[in-house]
Amino acid sequence: MFVPFREVSLKLQIEKLVQGGDGLARLQDGRVCFVKGALPGETVRVSITENRKDFCRAELVEVLEKSLQRITPNCPLYGVCGGCSMQHISFEAQLEHLKNSVQESFTRIGKTTLKDFPIHHTEAWHYRNRARFFKHSESGNFAFKAKASNGLVPIESCPILSTGLQEFIQDNTHKKIKAKELRVFDNACGKVSYYYKGMSSKEQEKHSNNLVYLHGKTISMDASVFFQSNLSILELFIDRIRHFAASGDYLIDLYSGVGFFSSFLEDSFSKVITVERDPRCLRHAKYNLGPKAISVTDNAEEWLLKNAPIENSFLIVDPPRGGLSPALIQSITKSKLKKMLYVSCNPVSLARDSLLLQQSGLHIHSAESFAFYPQTAHLEMFLYLERD
Ligand SMILES: C[S@@+](CC[C@H](N)C(=O)[O-])C[C@H]1O[C@@H](n2cnc3c(N)ncnc32)[C@H](O)[C@@H]1O
Repeated sequence: MFVPFREVSLKLQIEKLVQGGDGLARLQDGRVCFVKGALPGETVRVSITENRKDFCRAELVEVLEKSLQRITPNCPLYGVCGGCSMQHISFEAQLEHLKNSVQESFTRIGKTTLKDFPIHHTEAWHYRNRARFFKHSESGNFAFKAKASNGLVPIESCPILSTGLQEFIQDNTHKKIKAKELRVFDNACGKVSYYYKGMSSKEQEKHSNNLVYLHGKTISMDASVFFQSNLSILELFIDRIRHFAASGDYLIDLYSGVGFFSSFLEDSFSKVITVERDPRCLRHAKYNLGPKAISVTDNAEEWLLKNAPIENSFLIVDPPRGGLSPALIQSITKSKLKKMLYVSCNPVSLARDSLLLQQSGLHIHSAESFAFYPQTAHLEMFLYLERD
């Protein structure tokens, strides 16, 4: 039976959580219905918000039978602000859900079952040391984007921000910065740096540059470029990457940012090449890496096309959420590369790409995941792949 759109209020039984954190229920007509904020085992009353031929989406109206995993959200802005959509679940249950949703992506899209893999975790709160703040014109406060809209939600405190970022948003001198949007980074050692579009180079020099201290190294970065946003788990993350990154002749680090991974791996290789599209990363990569490294500003896909073959290299890729392009995967699969690490913040694109890599003979040797973003449905993970 097709549920007519006007029949907006339904009672549903939630079967499981899916990638992204929505609860999944089945309608009488066989379609699935995604319900934000609902948990497995719960009976809920919902209101249909989107009615498609194959599926629908619904808003949670009332929890009629509650899951034991449900907790009271820690933040008064839960459900209003666009972040932290998983605050209604205990942290242990969040970890379980993250693992399950990775496994489900690999089964459904990657056509493979991952061997049991760890989900590493550290702090559940006050972990976030990089953020994007907007200026709320009426209150003059910093703000986050609102849930499901372009509106802004002014914030006076936020339970996932690091202490440095928390102090930053409360400091009245920062509220005077004339910028609609600010990128802010707390190095957890006393310096919070910030960047906004149109900032003069003199101001950037003073306010945007920063240094991060990890595993005895000093990493140069600035608030305008990409940098990992959870320092509390980063040393563990580096340890696990080091564990799999073989030594050898060449290390090729694609989507390299400020040369972050290479700076911890370069000692094991004779030559290092980092490829990053954002030209602002280059000066940092040069500071962060030793003389055997060559850092280039280029599109990873184009660089690989120009620079194949790479079969004797150890390859590390860390693309944005969309994953690798078909052309880049083709360069890898054609190359007969033997070992690679694929770091990803999106299990869906990772599972998709791993299928093509596996079809070319690169097999998933190990997978590890990291709760980088507690209270959200996101995580960081990597696959270590080897050719037989
Ligand atoms: C997830 S970040 C990883 C950065 C780095 N590996 C790290 O851990 O700090 C992805 C990086 O890829 C860069 N990027 C995005 N598209 C790219 C492309 N087509 N070619 C090269 N770099 C790209 C972004 O600017 C960003 O710095």
